[in-house]
Amino acid sequence: YDGIAADLCYFVPPEDNLEIWRITLRNLGRKKRELQLFPYVEFALFDAVEEFYSHPNLHYFAVADFFPPEGAVIYDFFMPGRFADMGKVFFTLSNGELISGYDCDREQFIGLYRSENNPQVVEEGRSRNSAVIGGNAAGVLQAGLTLAPGAETTVSVFLGVTKNAADSARPYIEKYSRPEAVEQAFARLRQNWRDYLERLQVKTPEAAVDNMINTWNQYQCRVAFDWSRYASYFHTGTFRGIGFRDTSQDILGVVHAAPGQAAAKIKLLARHMYADGHSEHLFFPATGTGDPTRYSDDHLWIVNAADSYVRETGDLALLEESVPYRDGGAGTLYEHMVRAIDYTLRHTGPHGLPRMFRADWNDCLDGVDREGRGESVWTAFQLHLALRQMAELAVLCGRSADAARFRQAGAAIRETINRTAWDGRWYIRAFTDAGTPLGSHTCAEGRIYLNPQSWAVISGAAPPERARLCMDAVHEHLATPYGLKLLHPPYRSFPPGVGSLLNYPPGLKENGAVFCHAHSWAVIAEAMLGRGDRAYQYYERILPPQVSKRVGQARYRVEPYVYCQFIFGPDHPHHGRASHSWLTGTAAWSFRSLVDWILGLRPTFRGLLIDPCLPSGWSGYEAVRYFRGGCYHIRVHKPVGICKGVAGITMDGARLDSSVLPLPEKGAVHRVEVEMGR
Ligand code: NOJ
Repeated sequence: YDGIAADLCYFVPPEDNLEIWRITLRNLGRKKRELQLFPYVEFALFDAVEEFYSHPNLHYFAVADFFPPEGAVIYDFFMPGRFADMGKVFFTLSNGELISGYDCDREQFIGLYRSENNPQVVEEGRSRNSAVIGGNAAGVLQAGLTLAPGAETTVSVFLGVTKNAADSARPYIEKYSRPEAVEQAFARLRQNWRDYLERLQVKTPEAAVDNMINTWNQYQCRVAFDWSRYASYFHTGTFRGIGFRDTSQDILGVVHAAPGQAAAKIKLLARHMYADGHSEHLFFPATGTGDPTRYSDDHLWIVNAADSYVRETGDLALLEESVPYRDGGAGTLYEHMVRAIDYTLRHTGPHGLPRMFRADWNDCLDGVDREGRGESVWTAFQLHLALRQMAELAVLCGRSADAARFRQAGAAIRETINRTAWDGRWYIRAFTDAGTPLGSHTCAEGRIYLNPQSWAVISGAAPPERARLCMDAVHEHLATPYGLKLLHPPYRSFPPGVGSLLNYPPGLKENGAVFCHAHSWAVIAEAMLGRGDRAYQYYERILPPQVSKRVGQARYRVEPYVYCQFIFGPDHPHHGRASHSWLTGTAAWSFRSLVDWILGLRPTFRGLLIDPCLPSGWSGYEAVRYFRGGCYHIRVHKPVGICKGVAGITMDGARLDSSVLPLPEKGAVHRVEVEMGR
């Protein structure tokens, strides 16, 4: 701007509760320039959300002023030590000697009838040195800089929190006051991310795929895992806490790179299960509060999460760890999982399918089971998968009687589904309290739903012929250029027994939008069927850099490198617009759909399985995959024209007689060559 180049980098150093804003300014002109810098921040106490929408009483608990001994603006309680376990907020500059003024009173700084666009103090170029003793607190610093022609200078701003009320800001400020310390902290942060991302890197014929898998998709998986659905602009601010099903699924997106943290989350989830086997729907670990409403699916997801952890790590010991139940007593994680399954087996409806309770994965099918008889076909598939996973885990844990019981229950639910929920060309979605099917050819609206079809395949419950038929029906009725609709046709009337899905106009959210999370399951289902072209075509349809281009960025609207929850469906005039980016299960499932199912690098209990299902036009790909303490460098070669089939594998030059790679020694690097063929 006006001959001054500015570069601003915000980051949080790995070890400290500190945000650093590194500002570099360069004088591009021929004249010496005198600049005034005014870093600005608004402070909030206790409850950020409340402070955003009102001017609450809490403002009057706190004071803000500049403290020369600390060399910083400090925001704190009026009674120091009143909340001794809470730290204070500090705001300052790396070059403290540059500070020529400050303001802590927002009104003083901004001025009446003005905004952050035109603060009075900035226009006048002179701080008021105001303090705030209860009221609207801000932190503003003024620093004067002189820049010779062509000269460049870097200043860092620190916004931090001390550990407790007695702790001083000084050591943090000193630690980062030298520019090299800031650079080193940034380098450490970059290295942390490199270490994290390098555990899985791919090189495919598609640059957009590589870019997403190697960086952005993994980054989003990590963000979703860390935040669950907290702090979501789209999801009620901070009121969603840790969703049981959401976090269980987010685990799938990080377990390959952060298995220890995944294990800790699995245990945290298990602590929010009740002794009868169901779980809280969501909870807030910091306050210990939660929502105990029963959903048909929540508790079952723990099996899927634990299964993925054991496949990745081989660590069965986690299953034997004792975890308390939410309502008292304790049991091993394995017992929690058994109870989750038994809870669903105990709660079935008139067709012998799992009760829907409040809803299932689809939160908006909350009108199905108001009277205690509504059933979810989708949950029946989820149960079938959980039973298969539990049977395998039980064998590994030496509990063969359990394994037999799970297999038997699996066969029974499979028989029930196929007898009661097959509609002729696809699977029904649910039965309402009145026994009416949703997602059947008999329905005028909501005739076919996506999830029962993809999960018929994923769960292994559909016989091969039905598996193909129902996924063909998906292609026929649900495919759009921008992904698969969740159902068709969307509801325009208000039939009983559906639920809050009907609140949405046709083509939005659960009422027939392209629901990206569910879309990813269809990618997996197609790969499981061996239809590599269709699997990849679906995968690519919602790949952010591709779909945003196809739709046009102006219409698509959200970040072209982040998955979003949904894309407006064809029944809405803005078909192709996207919304709810970042905190969505799409991140984890899309990631797994490409890596595990299309590239076919799939963790099994015995080792990493190589089973690609690629688009026929590809000639192969390369990947680096860390696994169980070692690392595989994998090269897959494929004749153009086929999708599936492994003809031969060598590891370090030796031919293998199985597609499951031998487990690596700790720290070993193995070269794996895969020849595909019919
Ligand atoms: C978003 C919610 O976070 C998730 O839990 C749910 O499965 C989907 N919406 C579908 O309703």
